[in-house]
Amino acid sequence: MKEQKSFSSSIGAIMAAVGSAVGLGNIWRFPYICGKYGGGAFLIVYLLFVFLLGSVLMMSEFVIGRRSQHTPMKAFASLSPKKGWMLVGALSIVTVFFILSQYLVLAGWTTEYVWDSVNGTVASLGTDAGAISSYFAQFSTGTWMPVLMLVIFSAIVLVVILGGVQKGIENVSKILMPFLVLLVVVLCVRSLTLPGAGKGVEYLFSPDFSKLTAEGILAALGQALFSLSVGMGTMIVYGSYIPLNDNLFKTAMWITASDTLIAILAGLAIFPAVFSCGFDPAGGPGLVYCVLPNVFNTMGSAGTVFSFIFFLLLAVAALTSAISLLETLTAWFAEHTRVGRKTSAVIFFFLSTAFGILFSLSVGPMSGVKVIGLTLFDFVDRLNSIYLPPLTALGTIIFFGWVMKEDLIKDELSNHGTLKTGYYPLFRILARFVAPLALMVVIISGILM
Ligand code: PHE
Repeated sequence: MKEQKSFSSSIGAIMAAVGSAVGLGNIWRFPYICGKYGGGAFLIVYLLFVFLLGSVLMMSEFVIGRRSQHTPMKAFASLSPKKGWMLVGALSIVTVFFILSQYLVLAGWTTEYVWDSVNGTVASLGTDAGAISSYFAQFSTGTWMPVLMLVIFSAIVLVVILGGVQKGIENVSKILMPFLVLLVVVLCVRSLTLPGAGKGVEYLFSPDFSKLTAEGILAALGQALFSLSVGMGTMIVYGSYIPLNDNLFKTAMWITASDTLIAILAGLAIFPAVFSCGFDPAGGPGLVYCVLPNVFNTMGSAGTVFSFIFFLLLAVAALTSAISLLETLTAWFAEHTRVGRKTSAVIFFFLSTAFGILFSLSVGPMSGVKVIGLTLFDFVDRLNSIYLPPLTALGTIIFFGWVMKEDLIKDELSNHGTLKTGYYPLFRILARFVAPLALMVVIISGILM
């Protein structure tokens, strides 16, 4: 039987892409950077970036993917006579590989905390902040457990990819995405009905412009791109699977809006509870693994249930994102070799897991190994946040705005002239001028900082 290389329906395509977009970035990272850089003030800038730049990049990737029906490298090569643009595709594959390998480490930690919520470990730590933090430090710097959890998580991702585009990715997303919304809504209701919850809502939404520094604005842009999974070629691959009669503009808007809404809901699930229990929200990345377990444990036995729900939410979000990353590598390799989808998936499962293990060990036993003064994990974190994604995004948007033929773009966005595209003039300006400029600022300041 021929493998189906497209999603079967509009809704399936949206669910899969929302699955890619909603990830650790929304639930783990968005709430704490939003709080850190001025709550509502950050939110305003973030919304502008998400809708004016993120969605534009997403549509560009969709157009490139669906028009070419190829994975990143061949997609660029087939849409322009200058084959050198293939290098942007190659860069995106490298970016996706490193993001996946690092993502697996964080997802492995999440998997451990799902298990720890079930077996009572989280509850047994009680409300002793010191004990909770040292448990996390001990676990994450350990050798075997983080690696074991990483491998388990990664194997689940592989199984979904082996299921195929429709039966694996699309079907799993169609089940997991509504489930994820249910989980986050349950947590929001609990969090918002706790005494003193209002303070958390205030923290998230009331604008404090004094905290919105230049660094905060850059963080907002980086977060907008990462959260929407754009600028790395993943949406080129998913774009090539979008049914031909779907409206790419509407699809991108649905994904952008859902991703943003879920990030805000995650903030509402976290901060009101944190404030209500009298904790300091400035937990940074430790918010999820150090502050939240403490919050859950102050809730008594119900806390165990909420702890499980929360970490399950995080794991589900991470899963559908990791699926899109492994799919990008799989589809790319399968297109360039004769080994087929399944073998490609297995090869990249091994490679990304091996690198993931290396990064995981570099948090603990191998922390002495340094590259330019950083542990391997911090090094890849830097690559993944400051250099690779903005560079790939810049290459993609310059290709789209300045190299690719405009007729093709219009034809693809309007489904051969059958859809209205009133947004096009604004979209074109954003794609040609605003997005490249903004990305150049990000890259230059990243290098200087
Ligand atoms: N968007 C995902 C998140 O928010 C991460 C991701 C980036 C997934 C790029 C795929 C591609 O966590």
